Amino acid sequence: MVSFSSVLLAQASLLQCVLACGFHGGLYPTENPLLRRSAVPELPTKKILIRNVRVFDGHVILSPRDIVIDGSVIGSNPTHPDEVIDGKDGFLIPGLIDSHTHVQQISHMEDLSRYGVTTAFNMNCLNFTSCEIFKSQVGLTSIFTAGVPIIAPNSDHARTTPIPKSMLITDVSQADLYVGWAVTNGSDFMKIVSEGNGPTQEMQDAAVQASHSRGIQSSTHASWEIPYQQAIQSKTDNIQHIFGESLIAKKWLLRMKAQGQSSVPTLTVMRYASENPAVREFLRGTAETNQTYPIHRENVKRLHEAGVPVVAGTDSVGYVEGLFDMPHGLKLHEELDNLVEAGMTEIEALRAATSLPAKLRNLSDRGVIAPGRRADLILLNSDPFVNISNTKDISKVWIQGIEYPDVAKLS
Ligand SMILES: *[C@@H]1O[C@H](CO)[C@@H](O)[C@H](O)[C@H]1NC(C)=O
Ligand SMILES: *[C@@H]1O[C@H](CO)[C@@H](O)[C@H](O)[C@H]1NC(C)=O
Ligand SMILES: *[C@@H]1O[C@H](CO)[C@@H](O)[C@H](O)[C@H]1NC(C)=O
Ligand SMILES: *[C@@H]1O[C@H](CO)[C@@H](O)[C@H](O)[C@H]1NC(C)=O
Ligand SMILES: *[C@@H]1O[C@H](CO)[C@@H](O)[C@H](O)[C@H]1NC(C)=O
Ligand SMILES: [Zn+2]
Repeated sequence: MVSFSSVLLAQASLLQCVLACGFHGGLYPTENPLLRRSAVPELPTKKILIRNVRVFDGHVILSPRDIVIDGSVIGSNPTHPDEVIDGKDGFLIPGLIDSHTHVQQISHMEDLSRYGVTTAFNMNCLNFTSCEIFKSQVGLTSIFTAGVPIIAPNSDHARTTPIPKSMLITDVSQADLYVGWAVTNGSDFMKIVSEGNGPTQEMQDAAVQASHSRGIQSSTHASWEIPYQQAIQSKTDNIQHIFGESLIAKKWLLRMKAQGQSSVPTLTVMRYASENPAVREFLRGTAETNQTYPIHRENVKRLHEAGVPVVAGTDSVGYVEGLFDMPHGLKLHEELDNLVEAGMTEIEALRAATSLPAKLRNLSDRGVIAPGRRADLILLNSDPFVNISNTKDISKVWIQGIEYPDVAKLS
């Protein structure tokens, strides 16, 4: 029998990661994490014509037109289709991108796929054998992954997560070493965790520089004001989360903009933590906090108004019954709602989950609907520009031209 305290411990190791999220190493499901619900499909060869459909191409809204899926990409020649879909009442948008998730099992990718999240950034990886398998699932969400993040020994992440001591940073010279390990092990980008007790400014700077000299971008976690300022000063490419104990000052907004940095504020998890004392307790060792969700949201509004690119991400980690509910896929749609509530227009929110992250991450094969791009698409039943919640009103999802068989339906 599992005692209550061991459940709490398991819960702790997952929950603490929700916000801290440097290293979700604690709780795995009992089922095989590599289990896939449906068979691996063949790469598609057929031509699908979607007729007379309204389109958001990743940038702008286009008048009704015909769109062709030609094998695994978007085509330009509508003749001789194998299948014709009447798009008259529908709305076609690019597959969505979640720029902050924790994918620990293939079923998480199936949840992302069901909701039309066709690309996801996985914010850490402890086991690269698993991550390589996640990255090669035909017909499911494509994954880009970080490795073991840069974490300091006295930080909250080090206290609350099972990171090997040998991989904590204690000297600035280790930054290049650890980034090198991440890259040779298969990381697509570097994750750095900026917290009150480190890593120091010098370590963060060195980790960013090492990432750039090895040709990858850096993503820095920062959910408190001072660590956020350090992340800005480190010139990291993007800053994950947002702080909520004070308003962000103009000086820092200007600096982020001037340095070309972007923000992935993950309002969804900030909101979740603000409503769940247990989450805060695990994070900081106390549920007491001087952060509030309205300040988190106001800071996102300020970033956006200052012209700092704001990108959609969730910090989804999945579901633990009765304890913890951050399902992959669904949460990205909630982040779109949260971004609109923070002052974005519907079109800006949708760009933040399509063309904008694709551009910032240099993914030239996706994020927009145009000939030659991956056929990662969502056909909606209703207009997302009338109400952003309509992104959940899904008719069909294609991933590289393969129709996902089990899309989420409005309940
Ligand atoms: C890494 O993942 C693979 C595939 O899931 C598994 O076989 C292996 O045991 C894991 N390694 C460790 C050290 O957990
Ligand atoms: C990555 O690579 C280094 C050495 O190349 C190794 O020591 C380390 O354990 C590997 N694994 C992870 C998860 O970084
Ligand atoms: C909020 O709390 C943090 C962490 O406990 C502390 O460092 C900071 O000074 C506090 N900020 C305000 C505005 O009270
Ligand atoms: C972006 O990708 C292109 C083609 O894949 C590559 O040539 C270019 O160097 C990349 N740019 C950056 C800034 O990574
Ligand atoms: C958008 O749709 C949601 C869900 O149906 C609803 O709760 C909300 O009131 C709608 N918002 C507007 C502005 O109509
Ligand atoms: Zn995270």
